[in-house]
Amino acid sequence: MPISEEFIQELKIRTDIVDVISSYVNLKKVGRNMVGLCPFHNEKTPSFNVSEENGFFHCFGCGAGGDVITFIKRAENLDYVDAVKFLAQKAGMSMPEDYGDRGITNLKNRIYEANREAARFYHKQLYTPNGERALEYLRKRNLSEKTIIHFGLGYSPQSRYELVNYLRNKGFTAQELIQANLAKQSQRGYAFDRFSDRVMFPIMDLRGNVIAFGGRVMSDIKPKYLNTSDTPVFNKSRNLFALGFAKKKSFGTLILVEGYMDVIALHQAGIENAVATLGTALTQEQAMLMKKYCETVAVCYDSDDAGRKATERAIPILRDAGLKIKILNVPDGKDPDEYIRTHGEQGPARFRMLLDKSGNDVDFRLGDLRKKYDTDITEQRVEYLTEASRIIAELDSSIEQDAYLSQLSEELGAEKSAIKNQMLRFMQKNTRKDRIKRQREIQDSMLARYDKVNSEKFYNLRAANAEETLIALVMLHPDVADKIFLNVRPNQFVTSFNRKVYEILKKHSENGGNFTLTDISGEFSNDEISQIAKILAAHPRENDPDRTAKDCLLVLEEENDKMTPEEIAQADTTTLMKKLQKLKEKKK
Ligand code: CTP
Ligand code: MN
Repeated sequence: MPISEEFIQELKIRTDIVDVISSYVNLKKVGRNMVGLCPFHNEKTPSFNVSEENGFFHCFGCGAGGDVITFIKRAENLDYVDAVKFLAQKAGMSMPEDYGDRGITNLKNRIYEANREAARFYHKQLYTPNGERALEYLRKRNLSEKTIIHFGLGYSPQSRYELVNYLRNKGFTAQELIQANLAKQSQRGYAFDRFSDRVMFPIMDLRGNVIAFGGRVMSDIKPKYLNTSDTPVFNKSRNLFALGFAKKKSFGTLILVEGYMDVIALHQAGIENAVATLGTALTQEQAMLMKKYCETVAVCYDSDDAGRKATERAIPILRDAGLKIKILNVPDGKDPDEYIRTHGEQGPARFRMLLDKSGNDVDFRLGDLRKKYDTDITEQRVEYLTEASRIIAELDSSIEQDAYLSQLSEELGAEKSAIKNQMLRFMQKNTRKDRIKRQREIQDSMLARYDKVNSEKFYNLRAANAEETLIALVMLHPDVADKIFLNVRPNQFVTSFNRKVYEILKKHSENGGNFTLTDISGEFSNDEISQIAKILAAHPRENDPDRTAKDCLLVLEEENDKMTPEEIAQADTTTLMKKLQKLKEKKK
């Protein structure tokens, strides 16, 4: 059962969005809105708007937006129910007894429990004859008993039924195990173990729940790792391996490595601030998550080609999250785990030295650049210096810049003042305003071309714009909403996302409820709510909402009459002529 509408209403009345957001963002009044620096991306000029009147926020920089509940969901990394709880506590309201979407909350709790039981089961297997090989494998990789227990490592037996049978005996249904991705469904419909004959690495969230597993083969079979797919409790792009341990030991710096084994080896060596992504490239969400626990991220990916490429891709993501970056280079093509192992007792100390010595991302980029040029050739030397001064121009500190200029001038025997002049020219070009303007332009063109939430918009721009105006009208002018619902049918909406929004608004209205962002936010994902907030932010209240609605309806009628290129190709002549005639009449 969802949280009752009355409760949410009451919560909304007692919660001041500006108040809440003010404890995260320094807001200033500009016109009718409050404006500040967006907490969801790194920016230097404020594009984050809060409308107290309408109860929503929107960032023109990164597109984040929604009501106060969405804000807390994102800022505190909570799900909908927990965000409501969080706000209710602030507002001094106690949650209703039957709060929450019982279905999904229950399922999530069942999955957490199943995962915890599974982790215990896998771990115990290590100490059975079945798991002997796995234990041997872990020991061969230098892991101590203490480490194996600390990370709760385990073994999934070869037989495809042991875990399923074990958990079913504990009362879990096949369906629950499949939803947890601990089991898969066979063609005949029964459940069998997802992981078989693998060393198991449990993945935990910050509260210590087991949310997923990584499983590694002990031979050369591919794939080397199998990971839990996304489930109701797990999203691989929003979590980091060992962050729960690492956040307590970060002291301002987290080390980002590629693999589970690297993390574990480092922690065992007393370097407990290492984390890893979960089998995918670093995401913006993971960078923002790290930003909560550190100022600097030391990237320590494998020193092979793939690792360097991954490093290059991670740099702008970390920088956009406002993090300082260090690039840690492990020599001899080793990954951190191998490095520590090969140096035996000295391993940990040596790795710490690497960490101390590691340079920022400018070093890394200059090093990369250097390799592209043969500086014995004058032309190439000039080009290298030009490109290098472009990178140095991006640094914020003039002391740092000076250090790099000296280094470059020594290295290539070039006049320092000449390189400096070049750098200054780039800096002028880079004046902050320009940079922001350029970013905006790129963002805007990307947004128009590729709307993540409403992917049909690009090809149906005219219809989508009319649809969005209608949505905004309904939400901002409840007095005309009924009339709009009466006159515009959902199936006249061309793009399916906007149609879904409209349908849900209509449903709320028919049930006699309200339909502000807060009322409907339980039915949409964060991204979708952001999209709706963006629509609202782009549509101020209208002077003549009735008339605007009529215009929009006309556009939708016209757009609906348009044939798709496929239809045109297939239609016979009479149909085509009729269509054309109809369009002409409309135009009159
Ligand atoms: N990975 C994955 N699926 C694969 C290969 C890799 O999910 N088929 C992910 C895992 O999270 C792994 C990380 O990418 O930990 C790094 O891969 P790799 O360097 O190959 O593995 P290591 O962790 O170094 O494992 P090992 O040292 O045991 O080879
Ligand atoms: Mn490795």
